[in-house]
Amino acid sequence: MKVYVTKNYEDLSKKAATIILSQVVLNPYSVLGLATGSTPIGTYKYLVEFYKNKEIDFSNVISINLDEYKGIASENNQSYRYFMDNHLFKHINIKMENTYIPDGLASDDDKECKRYNDLITSLGGIDLQLLGIGVNGHIGFNEPSEYLEKYVHCVALSQSTIDVNSRFFNNIDEVPKYAYSMGVKNIMSSNKILLLVSGKSKAKALYDCLYGPITTMNPSSILQLHKDLTIVSDEDAFSVIKQKV
Ligand code: F6R
Repeated sequence: MKVYVTKNYEDLSKKAATIILSQVVLNPYSVLGLATGSTPIGTYKYLVEFYKNKEIDFSNVISINLDEYKGIASENNQSYRYFMDNHLFKHINIKMENTYIPDGLASDDDKECKRYNDLITSLGGIDLQLLGIGVNGHIGFNEPSEYLEKYVHCVALSQSTIDVNSRFFNNIDEVPKYAYSMGVKNIMSSNKILLLVSGKSKAKALYDCLYGPITTMNPSSILQLHKDLTIVSDEDAFSVIKQKV
């Protein structure tokens, strides 16, 4: 496991983007597993900057996102497709047909999950998976639970996730209650994982992720078992570890 602690969010973003840049330079045909949420926004900003400076070429890259809200159209500005298009894809030379996100409007959950799971397999798996972490320890939308799903599945979001994500919506009632998400086996099968953690609100989650017991009640704890995990944390997110370890 490698851990980089940066001074602030800006440095975290630059470091993370540089790690992704190295991946793509070494393997221009990389399959990148991508995440949404607040944390990777700065990373995407730097990737766009690297692209504009001709330091990175996405023309052969394939991206596959972790998750998507169920019941939201791709054009809706709350969809993860909209997020990815606007924060990254529209600004770089990735081929849009090489960018994959679950279909939030799929009519048959089982079919959509199977389609997306088969897609990951047909791409030959994920070379580098970018992750954020929920304050409750979720990764993707694998929520704390008695058991964890291995593969792509449709999940009922926990109240904690609905509450936290309501900051992106006009009111809490607009937050979707379900999402499609990769399962923990999909995530753990990636060759490399890059976990980004920023801010004091995530400090306890990061401590539990790395030092807590491995339990389904904290899905992120399974990352302790990954063979090639890199963490980029800012000082705020690292504060509980610094204090306790
Ligand atoms: C997003 C995702 C989520 C987020 C997590 C942290 O695609 O799968 O697990 O990574 O909720 O979100 P932020 O970065 O907004 O704190």
